[in-house]
Amino acid sequence: MRRKLVVGNWKMNSSKAGNKALLEALIPGLQQETSDVVVCVPYPYFAQVQTIAQTSKIKWGAQNLCANKNTALTGAVSAAMLVDYGCSHVIIGHSERRLQLHETDDTAAARFTAAIDAGLTPIFCMGETKEERDAGSTEYIVGRQLDAILRRFGPETVAKCVLAYEPLWAVGTDVPATPDQAQEVHHYIRKRIARCDENVAENMRILYGGSLNPNNAAALFAMPDIDGGLVGRCSLNANDFIAICKAVDEG
Ligand code: 13P
Repeated sequence: MRRKLVVGNWKMNSSKAGNKALLEALIPGLQQETSDVVVCVPYPYFAQVQTIAQTSKIKWGAQNLCANKNTALTGAVSAAMLVDYGCSHVIIGHSERRLQLHETDDTAAARFTAAIDAGLTPIFCMGETKEERDAGSTEYIVGRQLDAILRRFGPETVAKCVLAYEPLWAVGTDVPATPDQAQEVHHYIRKRIARCDENVAENMRILYGGSLNPNNAAALFAMPDIDGGLVGRCSLNANDFIAICKAVDEG
């Protein structure tokens, strides 16, 4: 039985006052939840989030890291720094970074392994554009992105991460994948891992992300290969995020 997980990706949307209000509403609101909850926050707020959340069930993580260790690299943040601030998770290969900051399968793989080496759990994102879906290339694209870690590091290493399917046409658009569309890709991902290792595939947590909200979460989470969510905008609103976490508990 896979444990459900909901991850809030705050993206570049934080302030000290906003974080405090949000966490102070989430902590009591999520006390009864049995699933895991993580918030991925911008670097400057690790210390604040650690102080507020450390005695709660909410874990925190980063939205990226640098693959290099202790080198002269201006502006970079290492895996060790994330660990120093109690981060448990780190998002790797988000489509916004792939598209706007030119991350590739290779650089995502380097970040992935840096995270694993530091004992962090990568949340590894995959997904196709609308054009790629329309061209019938969804499985090819997602398969290629998955292979960047699966072929390189093998199923035993991939077992240490959480996967996230985030179709680009659903991220930030208010057009979520239908439960059937998402299930089809999640099943494909699990099947592809099963070709290497059935046990790893069975235990792999695969999150759905892209316009998740309190109204659509339950139907998506009810799908057999969807093990939780990666939530953008609705993770910034305490009531919405709590409602999504409750939906995953019931799913
Ligand atoms: P939205 O939930 O705002 O569509 O964002 C999804 C996302 O990118 C989470 O990583």
